[in-house]
Amino acid sequence: MAHILVTGALGQIGSELVPALQAQYGRENVVTLDMKSQPAGFAARHEVAKLPAKAVLARVIKKHRIDTVYHLVSLLSATGEKDPSYTWYLNVQSLKDVLDLAVEHKLKIFWPSSIAAFGPTTPHDQTPQHTVLAPTTMYGVTKAAGELLCQYYFLKYGVDVRSVRYPGVISAEALPGGGTTDYAVAIFYEVLKTGQYECYLKPDSMLPMIYMADAMRATIQLMEADPQQLTIRTSYNLAGVSFTPAELVSEIQQHLPLKVSYKSDSRQAIADSWPNSIDDSVARKDWGWRHEYDLPRLTTTMLEKLRVKLGVK
Ligand SMILES: NC(=O)c1ccc[n+]([C@@H]2O[C@H](COP(=O)([O-])OP(=O)(O)OC[C@H]3O[C@@H](n4cnc5c(N)ncnc54)[C@H](O)[C@@H]3O)[C@@H](O)[C@H]2O)c1
Repeated sequence: MAHILVTGALGQIGSELVPALQAQYGRENVVTLDMKSQPAGFAARHEVAKLPAKAVLARVIKKHRIDTVYHLVSLLSATGEKDPSYTWYLNVQSLKDVLDLAVEHKLKIFWPSSIAAFGPTTPHDQTPQHTVLAPTTMYGVTKAAGELLCQYYFLKYGVDVRSVRYPGVISAEALPGGGTTDYAVAIFYEVLKTGQYECYLKPDSMLPMIYMADAMRATIQLMEADPQQLTIRTSYNLAGVSFTPAELVSEIQQHLPLKVSYKSDSRQAIADSWPNSIDDSVARKDWGWRHEYDLPRLTTTMLEKLRVKLGVK
């Protein structure tokens, strides 16, 4: 039976990955770690620690007899630009600590990369699996470096490390933590609360996105896959659905009235450097990945969930 540790467990992804792992492997077998205290009843066992802190991680791994780590701690794209040095330190050092401990304790690792690992010189349409990784944000630099570090530890030490390049993740539980695709979550809250939204990206800025349920299915499916089938140890391209702010607005307007204005900020340049769409055929071939949520289904589901959460009729 897996003994799992999830770091950064209280963020947008951890908030839904932890319940998914608990359902799959048993509540007692999922330990969470974050620099914040857990909300009541979230996890059976929670550790409060600020990474990087290799000695603390080592103690937690021994204490709970951990064999698998989902390492989610990271600063994201927009927040990362406010303190690039700390972003490098946190994102890369904490990953290296996890990989070193994986060698020592024979751990299996999941670590998410991002479409931010790509850059302005990467082909933007149907971005291939093997392509230019020349990101222009510090967050992207840490993802490109992290991918190479993962592959290095696999080749040199045989660490079973697995990764996907998440697109922008859309979800109704925790709010996103300072990324460039956050508008595609915020707009759902605003349509229900005020019927208005000011978008920080241009109406035609197409970006790859994925609904949380698909992202969680992909994560667990990759971790369950036969290692012999895996041909990528940097990070797998993963696609859900690509859309522009204008397309999302028009889909939401099928359900509710919404007034949107557009005023680009610094996140526009980041969005412009990222792909429009992703070719994830290698993930489909190697471990059978298939997305289930298209734009209409994602929109209906977000509105249903947020109506309940916000108490809106
Ligand atoms: N959310 C997305 O759209 C998206 C897209 C691509 C990749 N990813 C990747 O997925 C992972 C999780 O992202 P997320 O969106 O859940 O992030 P988030 O910002 O929502 O959550 C990060 C969590 O880590 C915790 N944390 C931050 N610094 C810490 C530190 N020094 N020590 C301990 N805990 C710390 C925070 O308290 C928070 O709970 C990251 O690696 C991110 O790069 C996310």
